[in-house]
Amino acid sequence: MKSILVTGGEGQLALCIKDRISFYDDYKFIFKSSSELDITNESLVHTVIKSNSFDYCINCAAYTSVEKAEKEQKTAFEVNGNGPKYLAEACKLSGTILIHISTDYVFDGINKKKPYIETDIANPINVYGLSKLKGENEIKKSYKKHFILRTSWLYSEYGNNFLKTMLSLSKKKSEIEVINDQIGAPTYAGDLADLILKIIISSSKSYGLYHFSSSGTCSWFDFAVEIFNQTRASIIVDRISSADYLSNVKRPHYGVLDNTKAKSNFNINNKNWRDSLSSMINKLT
Ligand SMILES: NC(=O)c1ccc[n+]([C@@H]2O[C@H](COP(=O)([O-])OP(=O)(O)OC[C@H]3O[C@@H](n4cnc5c(N)ncnc54)[C@H](OP(=O)(O)O)[C@@H]3O)[C@@H](O)[C@H]2O)c1
Repeated sequence: MKSILVTGGEGQLALCIKDRISFYDDYKFIFKSSSELDITNESLVHTVIKSNSFDYCINCAAYTSVEKAEKEQKTAFEVNGNGPKYLAEACKLSGTILIHISTDYVFDGINKKKPYIETDIANPINVYGLSKLKGENEIKKSYKKHFILRTSWLYSEYGNNFLKTMLSLSKKKSEIEVINDQIGAPTYAGDLADLILKIIISSSKSYGLYHFSSSGTCSWFDFAVEIFNQTRASIIVDRISSADYLSNVKRPHYGVLDNTKAKSNFNINNKNWRDSLSSMINKLT
């Protein structure tokens, strides 16, 4: 039986993985919450990984508040930069394969008109993106047996995400403003969980960096409108530009990821973001 450690065990991606593991009898999953395993605690990371001889470690732990990261830089770098480093170093000593999640926010989104491929130059424009890029680089430097999966605009039935914010706003407000000049691909965390499990089940040795998102693109405005259409919420949505949105953080205007490499290596067929959203909403209702 193969054993798998999942860090950040109470986050939305980890919970989507947990929902799916009943189908995998030959695998033993151990989920550790942030209080059980703080990935910034180097010695604890080494102790936990050394004493369990896991086959895989899925790092779902991250500092994910893009807004707060601007003020809490030290913590963001600790969790997103040093945490993955400690995990990679500990995994190397135990021969545990590391699956780590990163983000389209490693790119600046400036002057980009076609989807980013894995070899495009990363150039983050905010602290969250910088800290996530540090995590990627630390892993690449420390340990070859890794899969780094960059994804974008994750949502699910769990945790805090754009979908849940919109659903909650639709119950409280009759009109909202949503940004229309940032383009990306909303990705259901359950689809990413499926890919992660597929990598494990297939025992793939095609280590490296991959992009994974739903297919198709939209703005946050389009995403909000689609959520309200699919849930039949009656709310007026007004377009605004990033410049009109009060925020202390810069966000890329374009973050679409090219999935060609993941498709050819893992034999996956990315769902369109609208279809994924619809199957998730159908499940909820
Ligand atoms: N959400 C997005 O839109 C998005 C987009 C692209 C990429 N990603 C990446 O996708 C991955 C999964 O994100 P997600 O949306 O599932 O995030 P999430 O729901 O915010 O979950 C992150 C988890 O990490 C835990 N955590 C924080 N600090 C920790 C630490 N020091 N040690 C151990 N655990 C810690 C959190 O626990 P507490 O709540 O107890 O702090 C939380 O359970 C992350 O790598 C993220 O950067 C996310």
